[in-house]
This record gives sequence, structure tokens and C-alpha cells, in this order.
Amino acid sequence: MRIMDAVYHIPAMLKETIDGLAIKPGGVYVDVTFGGGGHSRAILENLGMENGRLFSFDQDSDALQNAIDDERWTFVHSNFRYLQNWMEYYGVTQIDGLLADLGVSFHHFDCPERGFSFRFSAPLDMRMNRTSKMTAAAVVNSYNEAELTRILRLYGEMGNYKQVIRYIHRARVNHPIERTEDLVRTIASDAQVLENGEIEVAPKYKKDLAKLFQALRIEVNDELGALREMLVTAKNLLKPGGRMAVLTYHSLEDRLVKNFFKSGNLEGTIEKDFYGNVVSPFRVIEKGRMADEEEVARNPRSRSAKLRVAEKIEN
Ligand SMILES: C[S@@+](CC[C@H](N)C(=O)[O-])C[C@H]1O[C@@H](n2cnc3c(N)ncnc32)[C@H](O)[C@@H]1O
Repeated sequence: MRIMDAVYHIPAMLKETIDGLAIKPGGVYVDVTFGGGGHSRAILENLGMENGRLFSFDQDSDALQNAIDDERWTFVHSNFRYLQNWMEYYGVTQIDGLLADLGVSFHHFDCPERGFSFRFSAPLDMRMNRTSKMTAAAVVNSYNEAELTRILRLYGEMGNYKQVIRYIHRARVNHPIERTEDLVRTIASDAQVLENGEIEVAPKYKKDLAKLFQALRIEVNDELGALREMLVTAKNLLKPGGRMAVLTYHSLEDRLVKNFFKSGNLEGTIEKDFYGNVVSPFRVIEKGRMADEEEVARNPRSRSAKLRVAEKIEN
């Protein structure tokens, strides 16, 4: 099968993100989503040569192929939900900044055997961490109607989720849905697997397929659960004046980050002082900046990225 992984990843809004972090030379930084390392390399370039440290997390061991040869850099092969434990392990009690560029890399979409893309025939996997148990096949074959409704509506934002669930149910009673093409055919029954392993599907089905695959990926990797845990830890670790930059690609995660930055808590509950002023541990620096036209033309996958940056307030 054709491997399309010429580029591991192209970072979105690289300059804007690095500007937003306002990196302090000699500071301690964390990039919780290393991927192709584009953002990490840029952080190192701004960190100054002495004393600065950068910890880069990725739960996918494939990211190690982009390892950086630099004494200031440490790779942490872990889910970022364990940020607190790892910082304790390395004796770090406070950090100057943190970056999260959420979701998957180009590598995940372009590497056929990982099962993230409806373009290629592959096992229906979608795990970023290949040692975890839950696969996309397990989700589509074992989840009941209520569970499928939750993920297709919330994570896939599918208006026609009821119909899609009926198709999935109809397909799985006859045969387990084990491969990407099995899932594609629940929606597009005439989809063909070509000799080179690509799946040929009529353009009219692609929007729904993208939403369905996205919903499953978010569930398989518990992306929102990990984000919630990481945000709370990051708030506690950040020094006053330290900054957190988050790039989101989905409205649910974006709303979560937006409300967290506004309120300092996951519920988004706004507290006010005696005078009615909003009390939050953060000052919001970037409120959902999007890539400009030039970047979207050069890197169409940056189209859905939103950058939010907040600074921990002195307290
Ligand atoms: C959008 S890419 C980041 C790209 C990176 N900024 C760059 O410049 O190449 C997201 C990366 O984060 C990793 N990732 C996503 N969620 C994670 C999590 N909960 N814990 C650790 N790594 C995660 C993915 O495996 C992927 O490599």
C-alpha cells in the first residue's frame, strides 16, 4: 500500500502560537502534543541556550522519529492527562508556559494502517496510543444506541445520527465491522477498495464519513477527558505571568478551553467579587484566533484551527 507520510505534520499558526507564549529565556516549558515537533523546535529556538527546559509529551511512539537532539529537551512518552505525575517525577513544581495543539497529526491521517482515515483500507483502529485497549472497531461493534447517539451527536456533530446508527446496527448484526471499508460501506454501500488499498467513495458521502470517523477517534482516545485533566493540572503548575496556548480543532474542545480560560474551572462557572467584577485566575490574551488566508491556502488543514492563549494572573 502507498504510504503518504512525506510530511509528519505542518504546525498550524506557528508564529502566532510562539508569540502568544511570550517565551522567557531560561524558562521551563511543556509542549503536551509533540507530534512532528514543529512547535517544540520553535519553543527551543526562543528558550535561550542555558537553563531553559522543554518537556514534550506524545502518547504515540511514532512521534519519537522526530526526536530533537538538544540537552534542554526531554521527551515524555505518555498521555498528557498524566502531566502532574510526570512533572513530579522530573522534580518540576512550576512551569513558565504550556502548549497544547490538540487532536491528531497529519501522520495519523496519512498513515493507512492506523485506521484514522476513510481514504484507506485498514483495520478500524484509531488509537493514538497503540498499547491502549479500546479501538474504533470495539466502539462501533459494542456500543448501544444511547452511547452511539452521544458520540455521533456530540463529537461528530451529525444531524442525521439516527439514520447512521440504523445503518451501523444493520451492518453489525450480519458481520462485525472490523475494517475501515466495512464502516465506510454502512453509509456508502457502493464504496470500492482499489488495488493500491485506497477506498473509492462518491463525494456526496465524504462529509458524513469525515464526521463519523472524527466522532469515533475522539471517543477511542477519550480526547475530551484527557483535555479536562490536563487543563486543571496546567492551571496549577503555571507560574503567575506564565502562559498557556491551546490550538483546538473541534467546537466542543474549543468551548471547553474558552470557558476554562474565562472562569478557571471546567464547569465554566463565573465567579464575581463584591463589586461584580469577574474573578478568574487567567487574563485572556488570544480569544480564538484563526489561521489567515495565506496559511489556509498553503496548509488547508489549518482551516479549522483556533488559537486561545491565557496568562496566569499574579495571585
Ligand atoms: C496536532 S498534533 C501536534 C503537532 C505538533 N504541534 C507539531 O508541531 O508537529 C497532536 C499530537 O499530539 C498527540 N496527542 C494527542 N492527544 C494526546 C494526549 N492526550 N496525550 C499525549 N499526546 C497526545 C498526538 O499523538 C499527535 O502526535
